Amino acid sequence: MDNVLDPMHGAFLHRDSHSMFGGDTSARFRIRETDRGFFFEKTDQVGVNFDWVEYVRGSMDFVDTEIPYAQDAGPGGVFGIVGMATPIDATNSAIFHWRTRRVQGWEREVWRFLYRTRLEAKHWTVLEQDREVLEALAGDADAEEHLYQHDLGVSRIRRIYRADARAQAAVPAGSVS
Ligand SMILES: [Fe+2]
Repeated sequence: MDNVLDPMHGAFLHRDSHSMFGGDTSARFRIRETDRGFFFEKTDQVGVNFDWVEYVRGSMDFVDTEIPYAQDAGPGGVFGIVGMATPIDATNSAIFHWRTRRVQGWEREVWRFLYRTRLEAKHWTVLEQDREVLEALAGDADAEEHLYQHDLGVSRIRRIYRADARAQAAVPAGSVS
């Protein structure tokens, strides 16, 4: 969740990767509240790179974002990604990314062909970059870090999860069926 709540990482970690070469490496961000969570978004760049992410608290927490695609990625609008993380134990999580694109008719067939033959492998490359960074992080990596303006969204969800953890720890063991 930290990873996706930092849209700026696309311009650094994925700079040489598919669809993320454009865009500035610095930006101003703001938090915009919604009735189901909040947006963390750039104030000075929209529709260029990985410019916003929405964090949603529902029956399950998830993040939602859109990656603009160049014309050589075939027909269709922006590429949508919905991310979910399920902690399993102290060192393992299952991470899910739903990928979406709205395309109709024959263009949909073109898109499916392109995706299967060319683009899906590139997406896995990007996800593997994220996985390698996350797996290499020390368990206490969040103890000695210096968060800056791009990390407002990260700080926010850490507060949310810290509060969740305290509330859950306060419930006596065995009292929840
Ligand atoms: Fe990433």
